[in-house]
Amino acid sequence: MTAADRQTTYTHALEFAETQVAALIEKHPDFFPIYTVGGRWHHEGELWTDWTGGFLAGMMWQFHLRTQDPQWRARAEHYSKLLEHRQHDRDVHDLGFIFLSTYKPWFELTGDEHLHGVLIQAGRTLAMRFQEKGRYLRSFVAPESLFIDIMMNVPIIFYAARETNDDALRTLATAHCRTTRDYLVRPDGSTAHEGRFNLETGEFLEQTTHQGLAGDSRWARGLAWSLYGYSKVYALTGEQEFLDVACRNADFWAANLPADRVPYWDFDADISQPAPWGAQKDSSAGAIAASGLLDLAQQVAPPELAAHYRETALAMLDALVAPEYLASETPGWEGILKHGVYHTKKELGVDESVMWGEYFFVEALSKVVNAAR
Ligand code: GLY
Repeated sequence: MTAADRQTTYTHALEFAETQVAALIEKHPDFFPIYTVGGRWHHEGELWTDWTGGFLAGMMWQFHLRTQDPQWRARAEHYSKLLEHRQHDRDVHDLGFIFLSTYKPWFELTGDEHLHGVLIQAGRTLAMRFQEKGRYLRSFVAPESLFIDIMMNVPIIFYAARETNDDALRTLATAHCRTTRDYLVRPDGSTAHEGRFNLETGEFLEQTTHQGLAGDSRWARGLAWSLYGYSKVYALTGEQEFLDVACRNADFWAANLPADRVPYWDFDADISQPAPWGAQKDSSAGAIAASGLLDLAQQVAPPELAAHYRETALAMLDALVAPEYLASETPGWEGILKHGVYHTKKELGVDESVMWGEYFFVEALSKVVNAAR
């Protein structure tokens, strides 16, 4: 695709995304769904954990930032306010997901101290999950559990540390990133979903999984969280050791993508077998990695490496805006991006639209479209 074609095609995809989000909030006001069921947003199935509210509100901020439409601004503020109480939520490890896509753009637009305070409180609340023995932020499932996903949330602790000049916060966030690198990121750049620790001694015990194929497999979304998370941490800290991890993840990602540039849900899935355990794509992992690779391309030094990351991201987005993935030619489908996966084992949101897939797809397309204007 030429740059001009891309600008047109990506803009159309973003306009379609606006239509879908407007329809969702008109049909289900103040409802924060996580995944579709048969392409429809109103699910009664379990959440597993309540972590995706910031993605719906975050899309509204993305739409407003691109279009300057005051209606999207009003909707974004309304949906963000519905999340404000979560700044004190100690039951989830997802406060970065919830607040960095909502209160951060809102604060950057206004400079309002109250919004700044919410961001800082969210960072401090997340930091309370720190396990001194083992030196990691515990996942929502158990104190002995570390998730790769938390790499996308730890940036809010670095943010709070920077804004308040709090060394203790910075130290524990740094420790979390090092523990994750040492126990969940493998030498080849792939990642495990979960690590488990001995609570008495802090000793690392084993790599395991909830949403991937196996403890020793390469769950695609976990790798995308790691790639993007370490890139965000590098942006906030300037620490080369974290950029190195993001590049290791990115190199594994780029070298192992299938020919159509959209990942299967787990790099170890036997794709000769049927979905959901075999040949099931996860478009959301592709959207996250594309957005992360666009950032990483701006952070790395050799121009050839930057071009490689950017071209990989654009090739992935080119695939996702085609009708196989974009729902614009699928009548009745209420989501934006088809073929995402939430939790295969629990049979939640498998081969559906998932709210984080929607958000990172919109975020990645917006980065490309806004940069070209
Ligand atoms: N729990 C985060 C994810 O599903 O990726």
